[in-house]
Amino acid sequence: MASKDFLSSLASAFLLFIAYTAAATDGGDEGTALGASYIFGDSLVDAGNNNFLPTLSKANIKPNGIDFKASGGKPTGRYTNGRTIGDIIGEELGQKHYAVPFLDPNSTGQALLYGVNYASGGGGIMNATGRIFVNRLSMDIQIDYFNITRKQIDKLIGASKAKEHIMKKSIFSITIGSNDFLNNYLLPVLSIGARVTQTPDSFVDDLLSHLKAQLTRLYQLDARKFILGNVGPIGCIPYQRTINQLNEDECVALPNQLALQYNSKLKDLIAQLNDNLPGATFVHANVYDLVMELITNYAKYGFKTASKACCGNGGQYAGIIPCGPTSTLCTDRDKHVFWDPYHPSEAANVLIAKQLIAGDPKYVSPMNLKELRDL
Ligand SMILES: *[C@@H]1O[C@H](CO)[C@@H](O)[C@H](O)[C@H]1NC(C)=O
Ligand SMILES: *[C@@H]1O[C@H](CO)[C@@H](O)[C@H](O)[C@H]1NC(C)=O
Ligand SMILES: *[C@@H]1O[C@H](CO)[C@@H](O)[C@H](O)[C@H]1NC(C)=O
Repeated sequence: MASKDFLSSLASAFLLFIAYTAAATDGGDEGTALGASYIFGDSLVDAGNNNFLPTLSKANIKPNGIDFKASGGKPTGRYTNGRTIGDIIGEELGQKHYAVPFLDPNSTGQALLYGVNYASGGGGIMNATGRIFVNRLSMDIQIDYFNITRKQIDKLIGASKAKEHIMKKSIFSITIGSNDFLNNYLLPVLSIGARVTQTPDSFVDDLLSHLKAQLTRLYQLDARKFILGNVGPIGCIPYQRTINQLNEDECVALPNQLALQYNSKLKDLIAQLNDNLPGATFVHANVYDLVMELITNYAKYGFKTASKACCGNGGQYAGIIPCGPTSTLCTDRDKHVFWDPYHPSEAANVLIAKQLIAGDPKYVSPMNLKELRDL
């Protein structure tokens, strides 16, 4: 008995050694590394799709991207000073290249196998969300586009390898919902927002039933490993704090309340999908609590402010005019939780991503992204 145990542990140690050596010799892309991430969502993870759209929501202007090493500090269309959470997660999990924006002419050939980014500034779950920006890709369209990529991957490596790649080697991340509140339900322009006709309850239910249909479509296209971010504390962004003239440590109640209402039902939806879609794993990313923790205890994480935007103008928190060439720019970018009136800085993104990759169940459940990758 004992000797058998010893032999089998010796055998597994040896296998582990082989696996480790193989990973180490070829750069870690076999076995353990993530093949691809297919990224859906809004400006929190847009990596440049809006550059190719006639839209009022754009980030390919300075000083966005000032800390993005891969572009030498040039703007790429990312709505932050450096990497997005999607970029960081891919990098940390061993993906070889950043997921390329779907609308970029470079999203072709082998590049598709490392992932594609469909996210779009201003986009939401609902088609009507973000209409004030004129153009943006909403979730339904983002999934239509993945359907196109899906067929391209079939062509590239053959149907059965493609299926394996999508099911086992790829993570599908979905960061959506903030704009459905900020640029739809909460819009003061009553003729645009859904608030005219719907109670918060019925709007939130609508969002989740559409999201459920959208996730089911991705499942039909062979997606199996999902991570879904909930909506962050959108009442605490510099924009909201500025227009409502709040004190340093206050947040606006209604947006946060709507986010929490949505988030609680999102959690139920995720549990339901984990039960009902065979072979699929949906990971819940508690972005709300993560960002709230950074905001509340910012000093503990090395930040100097969690209320003032690094790049922006207007009011007490530089929260009215979006970041652009004429904006006031802070000098200590890594000491600001917020890069601009709406979006976290790279420094905040790094802390959020680290928790999602290897953090505890309070923030990422039923497993973290390392475990999801290794399934
Ligand atoms: C496309 O790829 C080439 C070579 O990798 C790169 O030089 C170029 O900047 C990329 N174009 C865009 C729009 O990202
Ligand atoms: C968005 O529009 C498409 C048709 O273009 C429709 O099939 C879909 O149901 C709409 N989605 C939402 C969330 O309204
Ligand atoms: C993908 O596109 C094909 C048409 O090319 C369509 O028949 C199919 O329903 C689409 N799948 C999904 C899940 O949208």
